[in-house]
Order: sequence, then C-alpha cells, then structure tokens
Amino acid sequence: MEIVINGNVIAVPDDLQNVTLLDFLRDFVMLTGTKFGCGVGLCGACTVHLDGVAARSCQTYVSDIINVEVTTIEGLDQTSPGEGLHPVQQAWIAEGVPQCGYCQAGQIMTASALLHRNPAPTDAEIREEMNGNLCRCGTYDRIRRAITRVAQ
Ligand code: FES
Repeated sequence: MEIVINGNVIAVPDDLQNVTLLDFLRDFVMLTGTKFGCGVGLCGACTVHLDGVAARSCQTYVSDIINVEVTTIEGLDQTSPGEGLHPVQQAWIAEGVPQCGYCQAGQIMTASALLHRNPAPTDAEIREEMNGNLCRCGTYDRIRRAITRVAQ
C-alpha cells in the first residue's frame, strides 16, 4: 500500500496500515508538525487536509486513505506555489497569533481549508468553522483576525 503525503509517495508497511494517520505521520514519516492533543477527535490539534478538506488525523486510519492526497502543515506552502509560506501562515505571523503554539498547526489547517472552500467567510462562518479547534492560550481573537486578513 502507498499513500501520498505532501506530494510524496510513501510506502506503508503492512503492519502499519491499521495505525492512525496521526501516529503514522509523527512516528513513521517524522512529520511532527501535526500534534497529538486529545486523541479522540475533540481538540483539532491533529488536523490535516485529505484532498483539501480538514480532517482529524487521530480519527483516520492509514488504511482509509487510499487514493487520497494528505497535506500536513509541512506541505501547506506547496498548495500556494510562488507565495512562499501559505497566505494563512503569513497572516498568522502578521497577527502574532501563536502563544505556546501547540494547537496552531491544527488551527492553520482548519482555517486554510475554510478559506479554500469559502474565500470570503463571514465572522459567523469563521466562528462556526473554527469552533472545534481548541486553544488553551485563548488566541481565538487573533486567529479570527488572521483569517479575516486573508479573506477576500
Ligand atoms: Fe485529534 Fe484532538 S488529537 S482531535
């Protein structure tokens, strides 16, 4: 079995097909930008893109992602060629969003999927979409400002 992560084809050993995508990313491919928070789908720290749609990698098994393109925070800039960092990452820097930073990769992956699907979300739509991504530092206002900065 093979899966595509950030444009790279990765062979999956037979004994790893039933691990979570989160564990596979962190422990086998060493893409540690995707974080383990709760492990039960409640915090959003592990958010990645599956064919451009935000998904919880702790709730996704490697065997479920055949013919699906996985994008992690490490590959997000590849989805906006020629712009350096992805515009959402640039907005995060401009707004000084992170505090401890632990949840921020997941926040950025959710926000970038939202803006890809809906380039001009309302404040209510931003709140609704980001509702499942928790931040113990309480950076929510800065997160909303950064998303609004990118919104067209
Ligand atoms: Fe996956 Fe919390 S670690 S949602």
